[in-house]
Amino acid sequence: MRKNIVAGNWKMNTTVPEGVQLAKEVCEAVCAAQDLKCDVIVGVPFTHLCAVKGAICEKMGLAAENCADHEKGAYTGEVSAAMVASTGADYVILGHSERRGYYNESIEMLKTKVDLALAAGLKVIFCCGESLDERKAGTHFDVIKNEIAGSLFHLDAEAMGRIVIAYEPIWAIGTGETATADQAQEIHKFIRGILAEKYGAQVADDTTILYGGSCKPSNARELFAMPDIDGGLIGGASLKAADFMGIVTAF
Ligand code: 13P
Repeated sequence: MRKNIVAGNWKMNTTVPEGVQLAKEVCEAVCAAQDLKCDVIVGVPFTHLCAVKGAICEKMGLAAENCADHEKGAYTGEVSAAMVASTGADYVILGHSERRGYYNESIEMLKTKVDLALAAGLKVIFCCGESLDERKAGTHFDVIKNEIAGSLFHLDAEAMGRIVIAYEPIWAIGTGETATADQAQEIHKFIRGILAEKYGAQVADDTTILYGGSCKPSNARELFAMPDIDGGLIGGASLKAADFMGIVTAF
């Protein structure tokens, strides 16, 4: 049975004290909530990982937002997957469109990062999604298939079990424009289909597929009601504990 997950992606927001405060508020709310139907993860900047790990309890998961594409060595300013794992983080977010777009992360580079993350014992939240131009041109299915196949399909079924996929249409990120539940479901079903083709029905069924892009308390319920949408990767609305919990409790 696949897990439902709601994960925050704080991006480049909050100082360490602000982040610790936010994490504590989320953790208190998670601990007070009865009967949560999803796992809750906070994705935080590298600088925050240790402090946030100390501020949350074992009911919550912790993610980094990136890791290096090298194992170790003379790469000034980079943070390796093993370093991330050594903070107590459980996950790393890879392939976010902001990293692909602003930092030229290629499909090949992401394949390397995925391998390093898994080798370090981390699970991966792997993001994919099309731009508005790609959707208008009707190439969105091909774009998503290429991103997933190119960076993940060298993995065996066991390793695939440690991957969560996040579908994040670029045109919906931070724009206030959400994909409709039907639009998102169409893509999630497509993703599960290509997983089934490659790994068989069981792996496809067991893979958690999240939606990201202007997800908020007011639209989460409708999105999460879809059969192939197993939760969300939340940007802006993860920066306020009340908003984030409004999404967590939408299940
Ligand atoms: P927003 O929720 O701010 O649109 O961001 C989504 C996102 O990029 C999560 O990774």
